[in-house]
Amino acid sequence: MQSFHDRVAVITGAGSGIGLALARQALARGMRVVLADLDHEALRRAADTLAADPARVLLHAADVSRDAEVAALADAAFAHFGQVHLLCNNAGVGFSRLAVEHTAADWEWVIGVNLYAVAHGIRHFLPRMQAGGQAGHVLNTASAAGLVSTPGMAAYNASKQGVVALSETLRAELLEQHSPIGVSVLCPAWVPTGIHASERARPPRFGRADQPSEASRVYAQTMQHAVESGRLSADDIARIAFEAVARGDFYILPHRRIAQAVALRFGEIAAAAETPLPPSTPARTPR
Ligand SMILES: NC(=O)c1ccc[n+]([C@@H]2O[C@H](COP(=O)([O-])OP(=O)(O)OC[C@H]3O[C@@H](n4cnc5c(N)ncnc54)[C@H](O)[C@@H]3O)[C@@H](O)[C@H]2O)c1
Repeated sequence: MQSFHDRVAVITGAGSGIGLALARQALARGMRVVLADLDHEALRRAADTLAADPARVLLHAADVSRDAEVAALADAAFAHFGQVHLLCNNAGVGFSRLAVEHTAADWEWVIGVNLYAVAHGIRHFLPRMQAGGQAGHVLNTASAAGLVSTPGMAAYNASKQGVVALSETLRAELLEQHSPIGVSVLCPAWVPTGIHASERARPPRFGRADQPSEASRVYAQTMQHAVESGRLSADDIARIAFEAVARGDFYILPHRRIAQAVALRFGEIAAAAETPLPPSTPARTPR
């Protein structure tokens, strides 16, 4: 997607952090925007900081982990602006504690917002974007945690690795269809935003998280410190993401330092596939 001017972007999780920065970038490039967030008050306050022409902005409250609310968001976006060209599935929540301390409710909340919401976005927007016949793009915010697994973030890592897998699958399908819609997956490392305080966006239906153990508290503090010390700002990430979308890049890794960890992980996997098998085992064949 090379031209943004006067095109329409839908951005979820736009009330804070990277989503708000994506909104700033989109408006700066002359786009019209639909900004969605669970927290409508925060979204309204955030939108005020954009100082944009109200005719170019639609605010919409939605819990994007809920299929029906994403369907309603798509209806609102297409009814208001007639077409959507850039879908930013960006809303997400952080959660940090030992894997054994994640309750069923913790898993449902984190996977719901971070992974199912991306699936809902693709299902409710993509067919209508394709029907418009114009060039477009889906930008899914995953994370460096979608490529390497840091301890203390089991559900987060699993959700983001799911977003990478979903994005890779979608890219292959759209390429086979010669679709004018492109896909990118954004994988930042630590960025100073509100993500370490995601409990504020935990809907009451999931209850409050249990008291963490001391070990989990240390992981949470480490994550907060890492987030707060992130060298690239949310605006840096949004600018890098838009430049990558314009080029049609698929993987967007704004933090160069994760290259080594990614290479180590995939090198270990490749090495395992080359480990000699016991003599009686049938040869490994591709699936
Ligand atoms: N900050 C980082 O270090 C970092 C690193 C890698 C990836 N990410 C990803 O970036 C994305 C944006 O996070 P951020 O860092 O800007 O955090 P943030 O907390 O500043 O912003 C997240 C926004 O998502 C909204 N949200 C939460 N649950 C929602 C729901 N169910 N429905 C709709 N909106 C909901 C929140 O209200 C908030 O406005 C997330 O997907 C996150 O996982 C962040």
